[in-house]
Amino acid sequence: MDKYVINGGKPLHGEVEISGAKNAAVAIIPAALLVDGVCRIENLPQISDVEMLLTIVSDLGCKVKYINKSTVEVDARNATYKDAPFELMRKIRASYYLIGSMLGRFGVCKTTMPGGCNFGVRPIDQHVKGMEALGATIDVKSGFVLGDVQGGKLHGARIYLDKVSVGATMNIMIAAVLAQGRTIIENAAREPHIVDLANFLNSMGADVRGAGTDTIKVNGVEKLHGGCYTIIPDQIEAGTYMVAAAATGGEVLIKNIIPKHLECITAKLRETGTIVQQYEDSVLVKGASTLRRANVKTLPYPGFPTDMQPQIGVLLCLANGTSVITEGIYDNRYKYVSELRKMGAEIQVDGRVCVIEGGHRLTGAPVMACDLRAGAAMVIAGLCAAGQTEVEDIHYIERGYENFVGKLRALGADIRIEEFPDDQDGYDKVVCIPV
Ligand code: UD1
Repeated sequence: MDKYVINGGKPLHGEVEISGAKNAAVAIIPAALLVDGVCRIENLPQISDVEMLLTIVSDLGCKVKYINKSTVEVDARNATYKDAPFELMRKIRASYYLIGSMLGRFGVCKTTMPGGCNFGVRPIDQHVKGMEALGATIDVKSGFVLGDVQGGKLHGARIYLDKVSVGATMNIMIAAVLAQGRTIIENAAREPHIVDLANFLNSMGADVRGAGTDTIKVNGVEKLHGGCYTIIPDQIEAGTYMVAAAATGGEVLIKNIIPKHLECITAKLRETGTIVQQYEDSVLVKGASTLRRANVKTLPYPGFPTDMQPQIGVLLCLANGTSVITEGIYDNRYKYVSELRKMGAEIQVDGRVCVIEGGHRLTGAPVMACDLRAGAAMVIAGLCAAGQTEVEDIHYIERGYENFVGKLRALGADIRIEEFPDDQDGYDKVVCIPV
C-alpha cells in the first residue's frame, strides 16, 4: 500500500488555498439527479469520494463533463432508474444521499448500506424514518436499502429527528424538494454544508427555507432547472491546516475560507495560546512557543466538530498540562490514540472521554491512518515529531483532502508519497457497517 514518509520538526510557513467542502460536494452530486437540466458545479474538491459519486451518478445515466479540474457539469435529464453500483456505494458514507435523490427522482431506490469511516455503529434509522414519513416504504435487509413510493411521488410531512443528524437532515431535504406539499424538518442539524445544500437546491429552483436553523421548511416544487453553483470552502480542511500550523509552531495564511465557519476551531486554538488573525476570507495562524492545555467537547455545529477531534488531540499532546477531550457524537472515535502512543503520546481513553498528559515531544514511528481525519492527525503528528514517520493506509486521507502532500510540501513540510505498484483501488478496508 502507498504510504506517506514524513521527516518531522519543520514549522509550516506560507499560504495554502482551501478546496471546496467535501461534505457539501458529496450531497450536491447526488442531489443533481433531481435537476431537469444541466447543473454546473464549481469548486468541487478533487478527492476520491467525489470521483466515486460522479461515477455513481454517471452509471445512473447522468452525463458528467469536466469543465476544469474543479468544475463539472451534470446533466441528469436522461437518467433512468437502475440499481446503483453497489461496489462503489458500499465504500463511501455519502452514498446514503442516493436514497433521497433516487426516491425523489424515480420513486424507487435500491442502494447498499453506506460505508465510510468506522466510528462504531452508524445507524441510518433517522434517514429511514424521514423517507417513510414522506410516503416511501423502506426495507433495510442484507446490507441493502430498498425503497418504493406508491404512486411514484413523495408527499410533504412534518419530521422530528430524534437525533441531530447531518446526513438525515440533508437526505430528507433532497427527497422533499420534488415532493407534493410542504415538509418541515425539526431538530435539524445546522452545519455550513446544510446551508450550502439548501443554497444549491434553491439556485436550481427549489424552495428550501430555514437551513442553518433547527427547523427547515421545504415547499415541494414541480421540477428543478439547470444552473451554476459554487461550493463553499471546506471547514475541516481549513481547520486541519490551522492545527498543523499551530502544532508545528509555524505561521500559515489559510486562504479561501469563511472565517465564521471556523469560529469554534479558532476559539479553541486561541485557548492554547495560538495566535489566529481573521480576515475577510482568510485566517493567519501563528504557533505559540509554549502551548497551553485545553478541554474539548465535540458537538453538532456550531460546537467543536467531531471531524476535528483527532487533529486537535495531536495538538493537545504537545501542550503543557492535562487536557480532556469528550467525544459528543460517536462511540468509537479514538482508534488513532493507539497510533499516537507509538509516537510517545501519553493518552488514556475511557469510553467517550480521552485524557491527554501533554508536554511530551513526539518521536517518529510507523503508524496507520485508521480513518480519514485520524489519518490527517497522524500526518500532523509526523510533521511535529522528531525523526521519520511513515503513515500507512493513506487511501483514507485521500478520500477527503485534495492534494494533501502537495499543499503541505508548498508550506515547507518534508513529506513524500512512497508508492507501491501493486496498490489496489484503496478501498478494500473501508468497513460497511450494518444497521
Ligand atoms: C456526517 C459527515 C461526517 C461527520 C458527521 C458529524 C458526511 C458524508 N459525513 O456523517 O464527516 O463526522 O456528519 O458531523 O457528511 N445517527 C443515528 N441515526 C441516524 C443518523 C445518525 O443514530 O439515522 C447518529 C450517529 O450514529 C451519530 C450522530 O447521530 O452518533 C450524528 O451522525 P450524523 O450527523 O448523521 O453523521 P453522518 O451524516 O453519518
